[in-house]
Amino acid sequence: MKKTTTWKIISAVLAVALIAVSCTWAFTANNTSGKPETTSASDTADKSADALSLWTKDAKLKTELTDYMKAITNKSSKDFIPVENRIAVFDMDGTLCCETDPGYFDHKLLYHRVMEDPDYKNKASKEEKAVAKKISDDIQNSNLTAKQVKELVKIPVITVSRVNDPFLADEILASGKADIIAMGRASLCDPEMPNKAKAGRFEDIRRCIGCNDGCIGVLFGDEPITCVLNPELGHEYEGGIPETSAPKKVAVAGAGPAGLYAAIAAARAGHKVTVFEKTDHNGGNFYTAAIPPTKGEITDFLVWQRVQCGKLGVEIRYNTAATAALIKEGGFDKVIVATGSHPAVPPIPGIKDSPIVTNAQEVLEGRIFPGAKCVVIGGGQVGAETAHFLTQMLRKVNILEMLPEIA
Ligand SMILES: Cc1cc2nc3c(=O)[nH]c(=O)nc-3n(C[C@H](O)[C@H](O)[C@H](O)COP(=O)(O)O)c2cc1C
Ligand code: SF4
Repeated sequence: MKKTTTWKIISAVLAVALIAVSCTWAFTANNTSGKPETTSASDTADKSADALSLWTKDAKLKTELTDYMKAITNKSSKDFIPVENRIAVFDMDGTLCCETDPGYFDHKLLYHRVMEDPDYKNKASKEEKAVAKKISDDIQNSNLTAKQVKELVKIPVITVSRVNDPFLADEILASGKADIIAMGRASLCDPEMPNKAKAGRFEDIRRCIGCNDGCIGVLFGDEPITCVLNPELGHEYEGGIPETSAPKKVAVAGAGPAGLYAAIAAARAGHKVTVFEKTDHNGGNFYTAAIPPTKGEITDFLVWQRVQCGKLGVEIRYNTAATAALIKEGGFDKVIVATGSHPAVPPIPGIKDSPIVTNAQEVLEGRIFPGAKCVVIGGGQVGAETAHFLTQMLRKVNILEMLPEIA
């Protein structure tokens, strides 16, 4: 990634400013090609050794980085973001998000400062040298946890990754595993989380589900960062939804994520909203997506939408499909149609009438009893997760996929 792209990310996502700044350092340190590099865990140690020699031998790079950090810190004022330099213990493996190896630059800087730089070398105690060496060795194996780091150093230790809930954060702090929690995606999903937790409004917190679809997933496409659960992300400067001076009666057909978000937005603007939902629950395909193994966290969002609708006075009529008669009878001024999508059916002769063919939704929602041997056509996310679900029912499952990889 180019430096300019990284800075675009920084300005776009102040919520993860600290993370992004540390990333900028990492990018600047080793990649001037502008192209993402990938690496495997197995060559991490070799590359880390290269990084050290790059740092120690390349005086120009060293000066550039030092000047860069100074330039940022000199600009720091009460209006400017604070600057951190992350010493990564275990980071992404370099294939997805980072152009760097785990801890590629930062821990080497620490190692260098203690072991190589004349100023530090003279000052470093035996213990500090031992700690630096231990950190360097262990980080190359990427197997330290925040708790283990705490046992090695005297400075506060920050932990990060999938802490999306204040209760979890409290638990980590209380158990002494870390001193500070960094929340990246959780802050994109709900920038108000700390304030809501402080006010005891836990039910209003919109918890990140770790899907990576809108944020990390778009990172290398030079697209703006989005969040599948937070439609306002990146639009904060637009000032939110204005209050209406002419309230209307609004009907929404469908209580899936889009329908309820439309209902929430309309109700926030001051309209009177009724949602018609033909099933007995909200969530649409998200409801089904929460069923496969390890996906249960998605239900948090379904509850969040229901709670917000309740607080805003949105009426949800379950087991009621929106019909022309109901809309007329209700005297609605506007109708929003958000009835969702239907599963794609491949053009295979006889597929529609076959008694042994069904779709993922029927299987996951328990409306059919799967046989002992199953074949899943399509190994995308839905197909792969349905196959996983079936294996947990001890079915024998094959996936057929046209592409060379599944999911
Ligand atoms: C939009 C975004 C950009 C990120 N950019 C980088 C990056 O450039 N380098 C890096 O090492 N980590 C990057 N990360 C990873 C975060 O620093 C963090 O380690 C990761 O998101 C896990 O923490 P979380 O669950 O609190 O989000 C990024 C994360 C997000 C959401
Ligand atoms: S897109 Fe998914 S992973 Fe990213 S912040 Fe939103 S909910 Fe979390």
